[in-house]
Amino acid sequence: MPKVTINDLLKKKSEGEKISVLTAYDYTFAKIVDEAGVDAILVGDSLAMVVQGLENTLPVTMDEMVYHTRMVSRASERAMVIGDLPFMSYQVSVEEAVRNAGRFIKEGGAQAIKIEGGSEVAEKVYAMVKSDIPVMAHIGLTPQSIHRMGGYKVQGRTEEAKKQLLEDARALQEAGAFSMVLEAIPMDLAKEITEILTIPTIGIGAGPHCDGQVLVLHDLLGLFERFVPRFVKRYVNLKEEALRAIRQYIEEVQQGKFPAEEHSFK
Ligand code: KIV
Repeated sequence: MPKVTINDLLKKKSEGEKISVLTAYDYTFAKIVDEAGVDAILVGDSLAMVVQGLENTLPVTMDEMVYHTRMVSRASERAMVIGDLPFMSYQVSVEEAVRNAGRFIKEGGAQAIKIEGGSEVAEKVYAMVKSDIPVMAHIGLTPQSIHRMGGYKVQGRTEEAKKQLLEDARALQEAGAFSMVLEAIPMDLAKEITEILTIPTIGIGAGPHCDGQVLVLHDLLGLFERFVPRFVKRYVNLKEEALRAIRQYIEEVQQGKFPAEEHSFK
């Protein structure tokens, strides 16, 4: 089955077809997400919170990100796999940024990487693209900047912040990014950015006018309860389903109903 390429995503934008992206962090879930037909799977640094149980995304390491990306790549037959550069894997220098981005491709089997930040990371995006590493940019609410931003807050509300985001979007496209995540910004601003860019915008908490959408898989499936932002839509409550099944198992073990004869060997 041919893999989704960056050209397919650009074509979707030019033809007005929406792009669907979801996160996944392991083989089993990535297999389901790929089979369902998403265009791209993001191995997001959100795994720090939904898989590792950490407070925020800051502690997850490059080695851990590559480890999870490898599992997802093994499962994905069609969807593009995108590795997410974690905090302090790209901030120090262009050289370190390119080397770490390259690890997602070389060791993780990904087809692209994602990087948080505006104009200040444009030089790094340019260097990665020059090294044949396709880059998805990420502006607006960038969770790795939680301490500077003072929490997970909607961005781009003031005229100044709006102007800065428009400038960042242009700079990142100019640097060669093939698409851009817009996180937690007003929908009118997301619409404006989507209209001025030739590359697709992928929204999360950025309204319906983006060229595509991304959600954290555990949010969509109802598996993560600690923090549920307004922009999340729960399509199913898998936690409830899992609890029901596991409680039934415990009860059947206690009552001697499981295993039955059909689960036993003669
Ligand atoms: O880490 C992540 O999952 C992300 C998406 C929510 C865009 O960055």
